[in-house]
Order: sequence, then C-alpha cells, then structure tokens
Amino acid sequence: MTTPTLLLREPDDFHLHVRDGAALAAVLPFSAARFARALIMPNLIPPVCTTAQALAYRSRILSALPADTRFTPLMSLYLTDHTPAHEVDRALASGCVLGFKLYPAGATTHAEAGVTTISCIYPVLERMQEMGLTLQVHGELTDPAIDVFDREARFIDAVLAPLSERFARLRIVLEHITTRAAVDFVLGARAGVAATITPQHLLLNRNALFTGGIRPHHYCLPVLKSEANRQALCAAVRTGSPRLFLGTDSAPHARSAKESGCGCAGIFSAHAALELYAEAFESIGALEQLEGFAAEHGADFYGLPRNSGRVRLVKEPWSVPSAYPFGEEELVPLRAGERIGWRVERDE
Ligand code: NCD
Ligand code: ZN
Repeated sequence: MTTPTLLLREPDDFHLHVRDGAALAAVLPFSAARFARALIMPNLIPPVCTTAQALAYRSRILSALPADTRFTPLMSLYLTDHTPAHEVDRALASGCVLGFKLYPAGATTHAEAGVTTISCIYPVLERMQEMGLTLQVHGELTDPAIDVFDREARFIDAVLAPLSERFARLRIVLEHITTRAAVDFVLGARAGVAATITPQHLLLNRNALFTGGIRPHHYCLPVLKSEANRQALCAAVRTGSPRLFLGTDSAPHARSAKESGCGCAGIFSAHAALELYAEAFESIGALEQLEGFAAEHGADFYGLPRNSGRVRLVKEPWSVPSAYPFGEEELVPLRAGERIGWRVERDE
C-alpha cells in the first residue's frame, strides 16, 4: 500500500513570532522549512513601531536564515496611542510592511505599549484605509472584570464591530480567532474582513490546560476555549471560506518562563505547524480545504501572488522531541514527546 501524500502549493504563515537574537536563530529554520512567507509579529521589547525598526528587524531575520533557504518575512508595525498617521506612508513606501498590529494595552505577552483608547488610533486607521494597508487585530478586551473566556466575544461587540463600520473600507484581520462569536462575526462581516486560525485552537479545547494537572505549555492568548467553540472553528474551515487562513501564532518562550508560578502565554508550534494543520483538517474530513486555507486565501486577501513552489505532506508519524535548543535555554514544543501523524517534504 502506498503512503498517502498531499502535494500543496507552498503555504504562508500570516501570524508568527520569531523573537530576536539567539531565539530568532533557534526558531526561524522551522518556519523557513515549511512556509514561503510569514507575517512577523512586532511585539519585541522594545516593540517594532516604525518602518525603520521593521526594516532593521527584517534584515536581522534574513541574516538568521540558514544558507540556501528561501523565506520572505513580511512585516507588521506595532500600534501605540502615538503612532503618527504619516507612518502609514513610510510603511507602504518600504514595500515590506503589510499592515499595523493592534494590541489592546496589556492584552498579551509584550502588549504593555499597546493601544489604551481606540480613538487614539483613528487618524492612523483613516490613513491605512486610504492607502490599503491592513489592520491586524489581537481581539480581546483587557478589563480584568471580564471573564477571560469571554474577552474575545466582548471585544467584537464593544470594539471591532463598531470599528469595522466606522472605517468601512479598512482591511481588517481578526487574528487567532477562538470562538463561535468570532466565526459568526467574520463570516457575516462586510468585504475586507478576514481571520486567521491557529493549529492549537483547531486541535485542543480548554480541557488541555488541565489534563492530569496544570499544563503551562498549552497556555496561550487568546486562551483555549470550550469544545463547542473549537467545533465552530472546525466547521468554519470546513466551509472553505476565503476569509479564513493560516496564522500559527507560534510564540516561543523558554521553558523556565513557561514552567513558572506566573507562566507566560504562547505556544510554540513552528516545528510542526503544517503537519498539525494537516492532522486537524484530516480529523474533520476537510483535507481538500487545506491548500486554500494554507496557501491561497491569505495571499489573495493581502493581494500577494500565490507561491509557485510545492510542499509534500506525507502521512508518516514521527516523534516530537521533548525540547529544542533555544539560545542558552530550551523550548518545549507543542506535542513534546508525542507523535504527529504527518511530515513535510519540500518539493524543490
Ligand atoms: C504571543 C507571544 O508570546 O508573543 N503569545 C500568545 O499567547 N499568543 C502574543 C500574542 O500573539 O498574543
Ligand atoms: Zn501572536
């Protein structure tokens, strides 16, 4: 019997954290081995707020690539209360920046410098709308009085729905969606609104945070949700909607920062990102939708050419190491010490 294989157009990851320095060198090869391009998140310390900073970061990423690797970093700028509208013009002129990232202040890892009051960014949003740059949104309210599992749905009602009406031509990606409320919003929204979905939110529900004890390596933001919400995400990708595309939100943190009395948010999945999506799509009988989700919808939304290369997914299980080197530390990947049902081959 021949092993099942899938030949796909080379995919893109439209939401990726690669950090900087030694951490960057440690994680980047995993993404470059699977994806042609990735939208790099700007939540460094200090954040990547200007086009000049993004171009410098982009050069560091290119320098960290293994020899003979083709991989294109696409950049996003970190919005603050003080981002000037003319930064949009510089970003567009650079040719490397796809949009601006809205982190509500304090919403997640390194979001302290984010936006405190949405009206502070109206001038820059106006200019983005005019110039066709995209707003990438971390969609959670930060009010500590709001239940952590409700923060995405409440953000949509309180902030995002009004914003997408007020700026009716602004291109918006609601990133890493986790709820039925987000699916309903995005699939029912006006043209120019889309969403990314991570592998963990397709594969896991919130029980995974507590299986046999507390599981810090399953903690990310937005936090894993209920099984009903996970199923809503799966049903949405099964429709093949062009509004939904791949964004891993692979977010590496050293083991010591995760396994802590106050462990930080972020799941590292770049070592097996495409393979994990293949498992998720296979489990819901939607493998035929994987190529659109992984390699077409995102490029089309951003007006980028689809990649011309191919990757092969082979249905052969392999064991994920218990950890990878991460500078002086180590990094615990999703599925550490367990098996994954698919592996990737680059088709040169
Ligand atoms: C991300 C990180 O670690 O940078 N963490 C996460 O849980 N997803 C930040 C983010 O995208 O929210
Ligand atoms: Zn992220």
